[in-house]
Amino acid sequence: MAASSSAEGGLGPLGRFLCHLREAMAKGQLSRVTLSAYRGPDSSLRRVQVRPVELKAGRRLSFVWSHATRDVTKNFEWEAGVTLIQQLLESDFTCGHLHASTARWQIERKSGGVFRLTRSEPKVSELSGSQPHDRPKLRAFARDEPWLRALGVTGPAEEIRRGMESKYRQIHRFIELMEPVISAVTPDSEGPVRVIDMGCGKGYLTFALYSHLLRRNPGRAIEVIGLEVRAELVEAANRIAKECRAAGLRFETGRIEERPAESVTGMIALHACDTATDDALAWGIKAGADWLVCSPCCHRELRPRMIPPENLKMALRHGIFAERQAEFLTDALRTGLLEWSGYEARAFEFISPEHTAKNLMVTGVRLKNGMARESAANSVRRLASDYGIEQQRLALLLGFPWKGPGENSRVTR
Ligand SMILES: C[S@@+](CC[C@H](N)C(=O)[O-])C[C@H]1O[C@@H](n2cnc3c(N)ncnc32)[C@H](O)[C@@H]1O
Repeated sequence: MAASSSAEGGLGPLGRFLCHLREAMAKGQLSRVTLSAYRGPDSSLRRVQVRPVELKAGRRLSFVWSHATRDVTKNFEWEAGVTLIQQLLESDFTCGHLHASTARWQIERKSGGVFRLTRSEPKVSELSGSQPHDRPKLRAFARDEPWLRALGVTGPAEEIRRGMESKYRQIHRFIELMEPVISAVTPDSEGPVRVIDMGCGKGYLTFALYSHLLRRNPGRAIEVIGLEVRAELVEAANRIAKECRAAGLRFETGRIEERPAESVTGMIALHACDTATDDALAWGIKAGADWLVCSPCCHRELRPRMIPPENLKMALRHGIFAERQAEFLTDALRTGLLEWSGYEARAFEFISPEHTAKNLMVTGVRLKNGMARESAANSVRRLASDYGIEQQRLALLLGFPWKGPGENSRVTR
């Protein structure tokens, strides 16, 4: 259990539960409160759900009494809502769950009216602020995971360190988004899993991925390599891996573009600068990786070479539009090139822009039967041609044929 804050001093379990509720409300971390195990006189009442809502009149707690055949909703001002939750827990409901982005708390009333309070890790969907229904529910990493502490994300009292809140969310969001990619390709296979993280920096996401792979594949050999050009980061990350007894996780100093080809199950490259993303994707494709995940940043390559299509000239006079268009063009070409290489490509938001501006994720899952590579090639040629682009780093590394079959010259506008 986490250490109590000073505001909780001397409080019993129910008082501490209410204290966590007030704190979660004040910090905007409250997802919901659920009251269950009803022991009162109304035989149709099942549970009560409480959520924070923003109304014209201000912030309120919205209570929904769920009966067998109907729901009854009523909104309360904050403090009145907290008092009502307390009364309900002291009378007819014997169990309450507080779901916040930082933790989940369960309060139970035992015989003799004695309360017991327990804490558990929040679901990943609560951490990321979204409520995805179509994604698997993943447990958050325990805050006392040695690597979270050693990397300075959590502190000795299991608190998230100041300034590390968005890193903590990013780690979980990343794993949440990775899971469908991983399971799309290797749901039950038994061989070793070998993953490389290109441009891993301090290794936050390398440790997270390693930890996730271990818990989703018990008993399976897991090897994760973090590749990073800055030797001091590699040294620090290897030290932490050793301290945490993370056998199978190692960091190596080197440049992506100089790494010799080897066989891997998966490749990630998150926020690898500019064309380092292309180098990593090309490496992964050539390595025959089952899945590829990148989060591109600093799109400098195409911007100076981009010739705006006639109908966009007016808009692309503005630097910010040209910059965004260059990013879009680069990443759209990358998805087309992934398809041309026999991968199913997807592009989506990685994490809310509130946490980082570098929030696009591009994934590739290798298709078993390959796909219509030529149609993808035509799409790439047409898109590049619309912007006067004649070459792009990933295309160059993959030996992409800019001329279609039977064509003597490049596609022109
Ligand atoms: C913005 S950081 C991202 C770190 C990490 N992937 C993350 O998302 O937290 C980019 C890292 O890539 C490394 N890097 C850049 N170009 C590289 C290259 N060509 N080869 C290896 N590492 C590279 C940088 O030194 C830096 O640590």
